[in-house]
This record gives sequence, C-alpha cells and structure tokens, in this order.
Amino acid sequence: MPEFPRYRPRRLRRTEALRALVRETRLSPSQLVLPLFARPGTGVRQAVQSMPGVHQTSVDELVKDARAAADAGVGGVLLFGIPERKDEQGTSAWDDDGPVQRAVRALKQELPQLVVVTDVCMCEYTSHGHCGVLVNGEVDNDATLELLSREALSHARAGADIVAPSDMMDGRVGAIRTALDDAGLLNTAIMSYSAKFAGAFYGPFRDAAESTPQSGDRRGYQMDAANAEEALRETWLDIEEGADIVMVKPAGPYLDVIARVKAETGYPLAAYQVSGEFAMIQAAADRGWIDRERVMMESLLGIRRAGADVIITYFATEAARLLR
Ligand code: PBG
Repeated sequence: MPEFPRYRPRRLRRTEALRALVRETRLSPSQLVLPLFARPGTGVRQAVQSMPGVHQTSVDELVKDARAAADAGVGGVLLFGIPERKDEQGTSAWDDDGPVQRAVRALKQELPQLVVVTDVCMCEYTSHGHCGVLVNGEVDNDATLELLSREALSHARAGADIVAPSDMMDGRVGAIRTALDDAGLLNTAIMSYSAKFAGAFYGPFRDAAESTPQSGDRRGYQMDAANAEEALRETWLDIEEGADIVMVKPAGPYLDVIARVKAETGYPLAAYQVSGEFAMIQAAADRGWIDRERVMMESLLGIRRAGADVIITYFATEAARLLR
C-alpha cells in the first residue's frame, strides 16, 4: 500500500459526488421489512407506549400502513398477531380467521407485489406468554413443534410468501418444512430466526405484542448473548433443516455475528433491528440528544455493512422515504 504523502485518503472525501462514487455499501428500500401488529376489529389503531410511532391495528388499518410502506418502496412486511383470546396451548395461533391470517389475505389481495412474512411463535397466543407449551413449568420442545407446524400451515394457506419461526425450539424448521411440503405448499419459504439471542432488547415489543412471559424468562430456549460459535451451529442446523433465509436478532449489538454468519454460510441473511434498538434511538432523539434521522440511517447502514441482505426495522417506511 502506498504511504503518505503519496496516498491521501482524504482526496476521495472532498465532495459528495466523490464519496458517492466510491461508497462500498448501499441501502435499498427493497431490502427493508416493516413489522406490523394485527388485532381484531375494524378501525382500531392503538399506540404502543414504549414504541412511539408503532401501533396495534385492525386489518383495515394495517393495510393502510402496508400501503404507505409499499409506496415508499419497502420490500415486505412481517406480521404479528394479538388474538381475541389466549389459552394454555395457544390454540388461536392456527385459527384461519385470526388477525394474522385475515391480514395476509387482505394484503395479498390489495398489495400483491409486497412480500408478506408471518412471525410463527406461540408467545402471542399462550396465556402464560412462553413461546411453546409448558410441561412441569418448562417449555416442552417436541410437543411445541406440532403446534408451530399448525400455525405455519395456517399462515401459508392464507397466502403468506414466507413464514418466520421465532420460537427457538430445536427442530422446528424441519418440522415446518415437512408440514408445508406434505400440504403441497412447496413454494412457501422459511425465514428462520436462527440466531436469536435472549436479552433485554425485546422489552418494548412485548408491550406491543402483549407477550411478556407471566413467569420466568426465555433463556431456556433463546441463545446466550455470549455465544457466537453456537450462533453458527444454530444457523447451519436451520439451513440443513430447510431454511431459505436465516436471521440474526437483535442486530446492532450482534454485528460480529451477522458478519460471521454471512461470511461462513453465504446464505440470504436477515437482521432484526429490534424494539429496544428502535426505542433507544427514539428516546434519545426525543430529548434532543441525537439527530434522529441520521442515527437511524447510520444504524441501518451499519447492519447492512456487517452483511445483512434484509433488514427488519420499525423505521422501514421512513428510511425508505429518505432513501428515495
Ligand atoms: C416472538 C418474537 C419476539 C420478537 C420477535 N418475535 C419477542 C420475544 O422473543 O420475546 C422481538 C421483536 C422486537 O423486539 O422487536 N417470540
């Protein structure tokens, strides 16, 4: 490499045109996915306290938010459901008339070009708020697989392009792939939350999805924040079981994991900028401590630079508008 004073990196930083010419990483609206929360009813739009700008909406209102996202060029939406009732087994998860299933049908009719992803998990549907069935106070892995498969099938039958299991049970990708294939749903893709870390960054989401565990926490199934090698094993397992897209979640505090998973698997990779990451930026900006738009774009660019192909973010519509 040439040395100073022959080589001066500042030469290419002098104007925006020069900087743009040699920019290594670009963000495109089509890579962004917007999470949306569907609840029963019509004309319902309830603000989520800990996530300013995020709402739980009935399907009619959800379609409006999805249309605004699509108009801005956002690539897809990720649907979560708040059901009418919850029970021990989370049986409303596979109700073909549930809020997620109805939202999928409405979106596929109104906005057929928008990619529709559904979150597959039990925590929004169980009365205890855990991501699977409880047996003697512990989430039973193998008994949960059957329930997740039913839920994924119901989403796929409604027309979801991609189902995204976020429960972290072992073997769920394989179980869901088999269930989809047996039902002839060969083209429904699986985006697996493969390296999903247990931690405090999901707090605001649990308000939004009303899915806080009534007792205990999720450390018995989600990953330990200290483990990157294990994240690779988890990801390879999901790939071998049939995942089409893998995921690292949260995003910002796990950029090293994003970089390694991308480099070592080469698979399409999604990263989820979760509720806590979003809330921190919103809160600091509200106090006037940071420039909201610039921090938002820088945080997304960093996730992209680390290696994510897809970014799931509550900023999707706004970021897409700025990118246009
Ligand atoms: C469901 C699920 C969670 C998130 C996505 N899917 C919550 C959790 O695991 O507790 C978190 C998303 C966010 O924080 O934005 N299991």
